[in-house]
Amino acid sequence: MERILLIGSGGREHALAKALVASESCEKLWAAPGNPGIAREAECVTLNISDHVAVEKFCMRHDVTLVVIGPEQPLAEGLADALRAENIDVFGPSKAAAQLETSKGFSKDFMRRHHVPTAPYQRFDAGQYVEARAAVEMHDLPVVIKYDGLAAGKGVVVATERHQAIEAVEMMYKGVFGDDGVVIEGFLKGEEASVFAICDGRDFVVLAPAQDHKRSGDGDTGKNTGGMGAYAPAPIVTHTITETVSEKVIRRVIDGMAAEGMPFVGCLFCGLMIDGEDVNVVEFNVRFGDPETQAVMSVLDADVAALFASAARGSLDVSVIRSTHMGFACNVVLASKGYPDAFEKGLPISGIEAAEGDPYVTVYHAGTRAVDDVLLTSGGRVLGVTALGDTLAQAVARSYAACDKISYDSKYHRTDIAKRAL
Ligand code: AMP
Ligand code: GLY
Repeated sequence: MERILLIGSGGREHALAKALVASESCEKLWAAPGNPGIAREAECVTLNISDHVAVEKFCMRHDVTLVVIGPEQPLAEGLADALRAENIDVFGPSKAAAQLETSKGFSKDFMRRHHVPTAPYQRFDAGQYVEARAAVEMHDLPVVIKYDGLAAGKGVVVATERHQAIEAVEMMYKGVFGDDGVVIEGFLKGEEASVFAICDGRDFVVLAPAQDHKRSGDGDTGKNTGGMGAYAPAPIVTHTITETVSEKVIRRVIDGMAAEGMPFVGCLFCGLMIDGEDVNVVEFNVRFGDPETQAVMSVLDADVAALFASAARGSLDVSVIRSTHMGFACNVVLASKGYPDAFEKGLPISGIEAAEGDPYVTVYHAGTRAVDDVLLTSGGRVLGVTALGDTLAQAVARSYAACDKISYDSKYHRTDIAKRAL
């Protein structure tokens, strides 16, 4: 039986918490820091996640058998390495393996070395402003400019006009995000989808493919956000495409990372561009997606605690998966008006119980805070309203019906989640 510490506080971690406590192999679940929704599933504890010794001490004091790390920041800071050094099992990659997400340049060079299909690119380091600028002046349009380090989702500019490309390079070399240089790459056309693979360093299993909605407004207008809604399985990722991704992307990454001495353990998030039968990697993330996880976990029928524990111990056990495609799930993010720019916080939320009156609906907490039993908004993405259905249309209809039952003053959501697939 597993005694699990889950790190994180978003909708993704709420979905992971729900799946973990529902697992036959889960004896006890803690979450640090968690949120009011996660508190329904787990014991939330206050821990400074950046203080690795404090996390280690907590694990030892409570006989924690498995740590599951949700967000990228603690992975980038090497939390998994610190815990493994103390013989604590971790579902999440080492700092070295996390470079697949934390450095676009590392990720692109790795893909080139291991023949993973991706857009052609050039990499420029911190001292190569002049060269980077010259490159965008000559590049075919559209051209994509990416900051080489973590940039909270703001480090990518898809430029359709020359002046935008030049401005993007100027902005990135001004140190807005840091001084990590840039990657300049060719534009890929098609439709985006994400495939998550649970990896043990040598082996992997793929979960239901998902599609996120990154822009803030209907019809994919407005600014890029962390994600405004998702659904799974995404029909655009056909069986053939899943096979291609398994063979030409995930297998090559797992083997390549192992061969280079940084075996990948955790969730490999493959951000893909699909154009007919053609698949290219847009990006890797080294953790579950948010909000995709709310949808992907909803259609997964498995002992998730046993699955993650087996991956963490290097002996992936797929026999604990009963189904990865248990119907369809749709997640609609209820955000705060203004997100991803400035928005108001601290507004009282009502109607969650009514929304969850439908047994097919779960309301995941992303940015909420409880003060004296009153639930308040505390983030740009507030809740993730997720519904299951036998068909995608049914899941979408249930999800939107549940959204209508929830109120708070700055409530905002997209009205077209999964519309293109329907
Ligand atoms: P990334 O952080 O690398 O996923 O980039 C953020 C978003 O920019 C992606 O989700 C795509 O919508 C877009 N994007 C990134 N790279 C490309 C590319 N080579 N071609 C077209 N769009 C891209
Ligand atoms: N929803 C995209 C991400 O988690 O990065």
